[in-house]
Amino acid sequence: MDRARVFVSRRIFQKALNMLDTGVEVDLWEDELPPSRDVLLKRVEGIDGLICLLTDKIDAELMDAAGPSLRVISQIAVGFDNIDVMEATKRGIPVGNTPDVLTQTTADATWAILMAAARRIVESSIAVRDGKWKTWHPLHYLGRDVYGSTLGIIGMGRIGLEVARRAAGFDMDVLYTDVVRRQDIEQEYKMRYVDMDTLLKESDFVSIHTVLSKSTHHLIDKEALSKMKKSAILVNAARGAIVDHQALYDALKTGVISAAGLDVTEPEPIPYNDPLLTLDNCVIVPHIASASVKTRAEMSRITVQNLINGLKGEKLLACVNPEVYDE
Ligand code: DGY
Repeated sequence: MDRARVFVSRRIFQKALNMLDTGVEVDLWEDELPPSRDVLLKRVEGIDGLICLLTDKIDAELMDAAGPSLRVISQIAVGFDNIDVMEATKRGIPVGNTPDVLTQTTADATWAILMAAARRIVESSIAVRDGKWKTWHPLHYLGRDVYGSTLGIIGMGRIGLEVARRAAGFDMDVLYTDVVRRQDIEQEYKMRYVDMDTLLKESDFVSIHTVLSKSTHHLIDKEALSKMKKSAILVNAARGAIVDHQALYDALKTGVISAAGLDVTEPEPIPYNDPLLTLDNCVIVPHIASASVKTRAEMSRITVQNLINGLKGEKLLACVNPEVYDE
């Protein structure tokens, strides 16, 4: 029997790749940077399975290039806005992702970014390195209190929920908004469901945990920012394009809001000359919210297990289009 051919678009944990037996021929893209579109289209020709990243655009053109042998797409991420899932479903191709294992790590990182923005950790740390720490001063590096403030969460999915859980330790009031109200758990998590306008108006911290879709693209635009408190801090650990960066820059520059913490940007990477990078009140990290050793190892394992299951025609551990299994 022919060996199944698999393209892996970036190096992941070797221990996970070792789960593939000798019946699988692996073509691993070793470069740190993603393959160019042309190279990607070429490398997927005739493959049976694909392991991809959120930086790879997986659309009809790519599925055509792979051809009819392609029977599983396994993404090492929980988000999958880079994949045309409808197209994969039309072709009966299951698409795997890695939910749950990154929830806690991403919630932790959201808090790290929130705290860094609130207490000016990055800006003041850079000042120390630059030799600008001259004295203790009563008016230097004044930030915003987290304890006892109000946190507004946009998108109450798995990660939003864990961000909310952590807020209890800071004695915060938690507001949330989503398309679906989670009344069943509101009491347990001590949170209140509000509409978007109320959340923007009343929150000291607004943290985004919704998916990127047509309806959430630039959800946080000039108008939304103008509804926030002048003292408010915006945190985005979801997808960059949910925030209009030009509007965010203007708001940060002119004091419409006080600060922002971004794990994600539009585009990624953010160009080194992007105006946002000139602002002290904008903390930006390179999409690292799930980047812990344990979590990335687990994400690698689930990604490979999804691939193996797909190659065997078995159900994936985590599948974003389970309807492919419907008769
Ligand atoms: C995801 O999984 O979607 C994150 O953005 C990266 O971990």
